[in-house]
Amino acid sequence: MKDKPANIREASPPAIRAAASLLLKGELVAFPTETVYGLGANALDPAAVGRIFEAKGRPADNPLIVHVASPQAAQDLVREVPQAARALMAAFWPGPLTLVLPAGEEIPPVVTGGLATVGVRMPDHPVALALLRACALPVAAPSANRSGRPSPTTARHVADDLGGRVPLILDGGPCRVGLESTVLDLTGEGPCVLRPGGVTPQMLEAVIGPVTVHPSVLSPLQAGMDAPSPGMKYRHYAPAGQVRLIGGPGAPGRLVALYDEAAGKGHKAVIIGPAERAQSLDGRAFMPMGDSAHPEAAAQALFGALREAEAQGAELMLIEAVPAQGIGLAVMNRLCRAAGFQMEEG
Ligand code: TXA
Ligand code: MG
Repeated sequence: MKDKPANIREASPPAIRAAASLLLKGELVAFPTETVYGLGANALDPAAVGRIFEAKGRPADNPLIVHVASPQAAQDLVREVPQAARALMAAFWPGPLTLVLPAGEEIPPVVTGGLATVGVRMPDHPVALALLRACALPVAAPSANRSGRPSPTTARHVADDLGGRVPLILDGGPCRVGLESTVLDLTGEGPCVLRPGGVTPQMLEAVIGPVTVHPSVLSPLQAGMDAPSPGMKYRHYAPAGQVRLIGGPGAPGRLVALYDEAAGKGHKAVIIGPAERAQSLDGRAFMPMGDSAHPEAAAQALFGALREAEAQGAELMLIEAVPAQGIGLAVMNRLCRAAGFQMEEG
């Protein structure tokens, strides 16, 4: 184990107070949420928000989510709160749901990437909520990874990516959901899921009726198609090794064949799949990602598994697809993106 980096502090009340004063001074703070760790800055201070883009190496046209401590605080940041948004806030906040709404005048353009809309969310994590209350600011926060890397689900992941670029990382342990929030656009003709997450389309529909899932969730953006969410344009969740995603009933056998082929050529491969596969792999390198009975455990383990495989020097990551239902849709969205949308049938 490497030594703990000096900028990681356990999220005690004094550490949270120190984090709040950094935010009030226009500095960056990384903090845990129930989804992934965020890299926060005062959303109303354009210079502070600019530091987020610098630290992440993030393209300027990719907008940030603004985190708030209550539905009331969200209302102050948007031009209007449609009835559907009210119902969803009541049902799912605090929680892993970001609502895209018409941006209020207070929101600086650097936050929205120049869009007329803003994504807002109230996170369901005691440390995130304590921090938001202590600073009494709306906090713009993308995932606290370098742009294009898997999102961080531990404080250590944040330090691995951002090192000294962030003065303080509040450590609140591993994230419960493990994948970023559901992003729901409420500014178009009908509600549309731009990014699937912990709140599934079925859960949304139970509250507001039909929602659509944007086609780019499981397939690449077509040439000429506008990206409704600028983040969709960029390659994501890419670890250093090659990622291949295999689905269908023949997947377990195909993964072993591909593994042996790579190993035969002297390449270091790793199989990533449900824990119950371990028994049939005869000592081949394997990283469990949940198990078939618990799809939410796959979500929780996904980014950590990609980072761990990379740390072990895997040149080829062979990943077994999961059914794209419920939280599985969010898992497959991240896996498809990591694999450059090349899904193969086993
Ligand atoms: O769970 C999460 O959402 C985490 C934690 C820290 O809250 N945050 C997060 O932020 O994942 P980020 O910046 O890594 O992803 C935000 C996504 C991007 O794909 C961005 O393009 C999209 O949300 N987004 C943000 N504002 C938007 C807007 N106004 N319209 C459309 N898409 C938007
Ligand atoms: Mg991100």
